[in-house]
Amino acid sequence: MKIIDGKKIAEDLRVNLKKEITALKKRYSKVPGLAVVQVGNVAASSVYVKAKTKQAQDVGIRVFDHHLGEDTNEEMLLNLVSQLNKSEEVNGILVQLPLPKHINEEVILNSINPEKDADGFHPFNVGKLSIASSNDENLLIPCTPYGVLLMLKELNIGLVGKNAVIIGRSNIVGKPMLQLLIKESCTVTVAHSKTKNLEMLCKNADILVAAVGRPKMVKGSWIKKGAIVLDVGINRIIENRDGEDKNILVGDVDFNEAKESAFAITPVPGGVGPMTIACLLRNTIIAFKNSKKG
Ligand code: GUN
Repeated sequence: MKIIDGKKIAEDLRVNLKKEITALKKRYSKVPGLAVVQVGNVAASSVYVKAKTKQAQDVGIRVFDHHLGEDTNEEMLLNLVSQLNKSEEVNGILVQLPLPKHINEEVILNSINPEKDADGFHPFNVGKLSIASSNDENLLIPCTPYGVLLMLKELNIGLVGKNAVIIGRSNIVGKPMLQLLIKESCTVTVAHSKTKNLEMLCKNADILVAAVGRPKMVKGSWIKKGAIVLDVGINRIIENRDGEDKNILVGDVDFNEAKESAFAITPVPGGVGPMTIACLLRNTIIAFKNSKKG
């Protein structure tokens, strides 16, 4: 059984991205710019934004941080996005989700210039992903599912014809994951909260992607012998360890059970998480390069 080391794969990717930025700087006398927008103070968002900012700067991306108060209204945020859309220095725009309830997320995401859509959430990029050919290097693809795909490719197992089951149908993970795996010629099933016989479906999965946000929902007995398990869940739970209640992070898969049957599995933390940010940096570089093609 192999534990897929997302930290290491993400690190290797960042080394390559850094080299690419050095080359771009030589050629254009400019580095890619990423605007990171956070509204309010959701604790998890602050952690992510800080990590995204640091890692972007580490590879040589110029970061423009915009942290707005909880009382920011939709018009104010639209104005900021419009300004960033126009800025020559900004190649990628990321609006951290969730936004406060009084702001319509869809309206904001749709207002981002699709060419600067670092998350790949704009309908234009969602549409492009669904019709593009498998070797299109210029696409802005949602970061978490793209990170999962890179981890799968790293295993060199050949994806053609594999049965893939995705649990979760979100716009951020489940749906783009479906597109990416279809493109790799997997046979894909997308399961969700209304799916019947989830356990049976999982037992038939050569590749299982869990993205539901329910701690340890996928049991070891659901895993086919030799399957590859990619756990997108990041759930904080209280668990008793050595007689003490500890606040810990767990995925959507019961890791200790699942690793008995899996051929390869991602841990939480240290699996899919680090890949998401590395792919955001990649998207920023792609947006920069696309802007130079004219
Ligand atoms: N919130 C949770 N995941 C993400 C993500 O990938 N991008 C953004 N912008 N917000 C998120």
